[in-house]
Amino acid sequence: MENEPFYRLKLLLLIFLHYNALTMATSPKSSKHKPWSDIDLNCWRDYDDILTDSLWLFPNRASGEGHQLDYHGNYIPQIATQILTRYTKKDEIVLDLFLGAGTTAIEAVRLERRCIGVELKSDLLEYVRRKISPDLLDSRIHLIQGDSTASETMRRIAHTLRSMQAEAAHLLILHPPYDDIIKFSNHPADLSNAASTNAFLDSFEMVAQNGYNLLAPGRFAALVIGDKYDNGELVPLGFWCMERMNRAGFKTKAIIVKNIEGNEKGKGKTANLWRYRALAGGYYIFKHEYIIVFFKPGNINRGP
Ligand SMILES: C[S@@+](CC[C@H](N)C(=O)[O-])C[C@H]1O[C@@H](n2cnc3c(N)ncnc32)[C@H](O)[C@@H]1O
Repeated sequence: MENEPFYRLKLLLLIFLHYNALTMATSPKSSKHKPWSDIDLNCWRDYDDILTDSLWLFPNRASGEGHQLDYHGNYIPQIATQILTRYTKKDEIVLDLFLGAGTTAIEAVRLERRCIGVELKSDLLEYVRRKISPDLLDSRIHLIQGDSTASETMRRIAHTLRSMQAEAAHLLILHPPYDDIIKFSNHPADLSNAASTNAFLDSFEMVAQNGYNLLAPGRFAALVIGDKYDNGELVPLGFWCMERMNRAGFKTKAIIVKNIEGNEKGKGKTANLWRYRALAGGYYIFKHEYIIVFFKPGNINRGP
C-alpha cells in the first residue's frame, strides 16, 4: 500500500486538475489587457496585422475611408493605425500637435478613438473639418487652430480635455516639419520657417514639453521624423529630436525604421535625376524615416 500522506496529496492534485479542466471547458476564456491597449494578450496570435518588429515596410499608402494623399507631407495612415491600436483603448484621446491634413483624426474616427488635433494653418484646419462627420466634430474630434509652441494653445487644449471629461491625453503624436525640407507656410511660428536647425530644435522641444505636460503618466508618445542633408552633410534630425524629447522628460521605448515608399508624388520622373546626384555626390537617397516611441514615466491613472 502507498504511504498515506503521499496518496492524499496525489488525490488532491487529481481533483484540482479535473476541476480546472472542467471550468476551462465551460467558462469563456477571460481576456488579458494592458491598461493602455485593447489588444487581448490571451489571443495574441490573432493580431497578425499588428507590427512588433522595428522595420516597417509598407508596399503602398492605405487609401479610402477618408484618407487620401492630398497634402505634401502627410504621413501614411498605417502609422496612425499601428500606434493607435497599440497604445490606446477605444474612446481614449489621442493628441496630435502637428495635425496637418488630419490623418490622425480620420484614423481616430475609424478606430473609435477621440482626438484633439492642433494645426497652425487655419485654411488647412477648415479643410480637415470638412473631412470629419459633423456629429463627431467638437464632441469626439476637436480641431484647434494654434501654435503648438504657445502656452495659450496649451490652455485651450487643457480646456478641451476638461470638456471631454479627461484630465490628460492618452497618446501623443508628433509629426513636425523635417526642419526646412518642406515649407508649410510663411507663418513665423511655423517650425519649417525656423532661422536655423538649432532654432527648429528649440521650438520642437517646446512642443515636446507641452505634449509631455498634457499626456497622462505611464502613457506613450510617437514621433514621426526623417533626416536631411545640408551642404553635402547628413543632419540627423531624427536623433536630435529624440534627444529633445528626452530633455522634455520622455523615456525612449523604440526606434522604428519605416520605408518612404508610397508617399511621394511623381517619383518616376525624378528618380533618375536623384540617382545621378547620389552617385555624383557620394550620398544615399533617403528611403526611410523614423517612428520613435516614448513613454512618460509614472503610473497609469486612467481618470474619469
Ligand atoms: C509634417 S506635417 C504633418 C502632417 C500630418 N501628420 C498629416 O498626416 O497630414 C507638419 C504640420 O505642422 C504644421 N506646423 C508647423 N509649425 C507648427 C506650429 N508651431 N504649431 C502647429 N502646427 C505647426 C504645419 O503647418 C504642417 O501642416
